[in-house]
Amino acid sequence: MKKNLIIFGTRPEAIKMAPLVKQFLKHKNEFETKVCITAQHREMLDQVLSFFEIVPDYDLDLMKPDQNLYALTANIITGLKDILEDFKPDYVYVHGDTTTTMAASIAAFYSGAIVCHIEAGLRTFNMKSPFPEEMNRSVTGIVTNIHFAPTKTARENLINENKKKESVVVTGNTVIDALLYSVGKVNSTAFKDQEIEDLKQIVDPTKKVILVTGHRRENHGQGFVSICNALKAIAVEHQDCQIIYPVHLNPNVQKPVYKLLGDITNINLIPPLSYPAFIWLMEKSYLIITDSGGVQEEAPSLGKPVLVMRNTTERPEAVEAGTVLLVGTNSSKIITETKKLLTHQDCYNSMSKLHNPYGDGTACEKIVDYIKNI
Ligand code: UD1
Ligand code: UDP
Repeated sequence: MKKNLIIFGTRPEAIKMAPLVKQFLKHKNEFETKVCITAQHREMLDQVLSFFEIVPDYDLDLMKPDQNLYALTANIITGLKDILEDFKPDYVYVHGDTTTTMAASIAAFYSGAIVCHIEAGLRTFNMKSPFPEEMNRSVTGIVTNIHFAPTKTARENLINENKKKESVVVTGNTVIDALLYSVGKVNSTAFKDQEIEDLKQIVDPTKKVILVTGHRRENHGQGFVSICNALKAIAVEHQDCQIIYPVHLNPNVQKPVYKLLGDITNINLIPPLSYPAFIWLMEKSYLIITDSGGVQEEAPSLGKPVLVMRNTTERPEAVEAGTVLLVGTNSSKIITETKKLLTHQDCYNSMSKLHNPYGDGTACEKIVDYIKNI
């Protein structure tokens, strides 16, 4: 029987790996599948595990307050040694571009396992943006044996780096598998969620909801000051809108956001939401302002326009389709583009098209079928 070890550590990896865990567990006669979390994130990871009802087999429990990349990288690699040597997986699966992805792929390479990279091949071609994610994804690509690329563009990026054609498989992004499963669950009458009930008390039905998230390391410091100044100006000028901002737990985000936006009547700062509550709020929102990778992929499937507070993106598909716009962290650009969407219906209509460039919800099925047939 083939042995799989699925490793992840942060909220977005967990969301995008959860459907793969579930898909492999449907094939218990062919695979022994174990889940290892580094817990690079703690509360934000546990929220996802609880919603998808995943109980990890191994938990490195590594998160430290305001952790640094040096120690985190070292602790992941050394922490995985015993697990890899005891379980001896044939295949190790890592996801995306975090420090967990990069360090776990190196550890898996040392162990001699076949390294499978989910969401492979996304590139900005700028090592400083996103930092350190562009490096993480590229390094993982070097030690990967099977690249599961979400889109044709991602595949082309890998082929242009001289990866062997037969090592790259286009599957769509597993985020759409997670989203479709979760939207179905959230909208079912049987589903009851206290966080959604609490959100209903916060959302003002007479206002246009602007949903905001942000966390990128290259935006820490001046970037976040500029973002907060823009949000403050938007809230003051457009009293008909309500900004709802679930604030990432990174202290480099928490401090400036609560300090600069803490007491504005039409801005609600709230703790990070569980995945179903966040989906519920995305569906209720008028537009989304974010620097998140995952949100850029989910919003087009829900027909929500997105302003991305970054200068680069490794996800060009929705930008090309015109539903995602890069605005950087410059206050005046964020204010101008938000104003256009709030006040020009034509502009809003052209950016709120429902489309699905990132997949059709069958990525995990394709990945498992591929491994079964090796
Ligand atoms: C990390 C990833 C980033 C990913 C993002 C998703 C790296 C270098 N960064 O950034 O690629 O897009 O997650 O959100 O891999 N914290 C908590 N509780 C949590 C999570 C975080 O308190 O559940 C706080 C801790 O103080 C922690 C800090 O946030 O030390 C930073 O966490 P870290 O994973 O290093 O960076 P993120 O900014 O979350
Ligand atoms: N998300 C969530 N709760 C929140 C904010 C985001 O569940 O309060 C989800 C969101 O739907 C997406 C993922 O978290 O699937 C994105 O995570 P994040 O922005 O932290 O990381 P990135 O995608 O930028 O790596």
